[in-house]
Amino acid sequence: MRKAVLPPACYTEQSWFDLEQEKIFGQLWLFAGFAHQLTEDNSFITRRLNGVPVLVQNFKGEIKAFRNACAHRGMPIQTEPFGTRKAICPYHGWGYDGQGALRGVPNGTLYEMCQAEKDAIRLQAFAVQTVGIFVFVNLSAQPIDLSAQYTVAALEILEVMSRSAAPQVSYTHFEKNFNWKLNFENVIDPNHVQFIHPASFAPLIEYEPSGAFAARGIEDSRWFGPEGDLNHLDLPAVVSGLGDTDLPHISQITRSSMPHQPRWFSPLIDRADTGAIVNLRLFPNLNIGSLQGETFFVQQFSPVSPDRTEVHSWVFTAQLADGVAFQPQLLWGMHHAEMSVLQEDAFLLTQLQEALKSADSVGLFGAQEGPLAAMGLWYLNHLTGTTEQ
Ligand code: FES
Ligand SMILES: [Fe+2]
Repeated sequence: MRKAVLPPACYTEQSWFDLEQEKIFGQLWLFAGFAHQLTEDNSFITRRLNGVPVLVQNFKGEIKAFRNACAHRGMPIQTEPFGTRKAICPYHGWGYDGQGALRGVPNGTLYEMCQAEKDAIRLQAFAVQTVGIFVFVNLSAQPIDLSAQYTVAALEILEVMSRSAAPQVSYTHFEKNFNWKLNFENVIDPNHVQFIHPASFAPLIEYEPSGAFAARGIEDSRWFGPEGDLNHLDLPAVVSGLGDTDLPHISQITRSSMPHQPRWFSPLIDRADTGAIVNLRLFPNLNIGSLQGETFFVQQFSPVSPDRTEVHSWVFTAQLADGVAFQPQLLWGMHHAEMSVLQEDAFLLTQLQEALKSADSVGLFGAQEGPLAAMGLWYLNHLTGTTEQ
């Protein structure tokens, strides 16, 4: 066993939260939504990322990201979570183009603005990058390469999963009283599954006698099988031990055994990875999973305050078989099941957060909790320049 890396204050204190805002969420790429919400001209997504209102919008085929704040008085330019609408501020009608430049000021003479003043106006732009259907935004003025944050394998899997995805997505979000790191640590901790999800998620998984998730062969996989685009990847069933503590490797990718139990919807869906669950837990706050290459979930744990997190949840299926119409009841049923699992986690994590508030030090890690230790070591080093307490 080894001592836990992070002191309780990292989960409860505003000073650590402020450091995270600056050095993690202000510097790293953050998931913002799906490219298939942005296929039409003027289609958009709005999100609050790291406390910043962000607008991601399709301008004549180009996906751009801006601070969702009008240059006039700061009003959000788009006020819905998603939709299709020109980038025109609802307050006094100022309009913007894909460069964030001003394109139209109704009642313009009222402002007595000269042309040079108009030309100088720009919305604050953010870097945006799309991997398959996954859209990431970076709030830094000098963003790192996405490949410095995620391994080539992670990016390849996102691309391949994206080619399977059906365009319809079910989305919800809710706030809970725990620190975002507890949720990320929770998803890189497979040993909680049998205890917190005994009736929901745990029965779907196959286990080794040790209690670890079992591995899955590639024989029934269109992704990982001999003909598959991901055949060169050899994913572990679980990640154990400390491993590398560099940024790309504190994200975890696993592929474990999930015996296929045909469901009523199985004949309707073009399944790609029979018998397996693939999980990508992408630091800092994204958890993506594919069950059988048949259904998918995406979870994001967005920090609100040291003890408050907004959990975002999306589910979708693989593409439906030829001739099968969209099945909204299937997405509803999937999301109902997903919410049960998320609520089981949230209930426990809320209790854990409460207990951490009065703790001086806490925690022991076994070998299987190496990934939690690796994340903690990277976190301390990145935020403070040292891993010493
Ligand atoms: S605040 Fe946007 S036009 Fe006035
Ligand atoms: Fe869980």
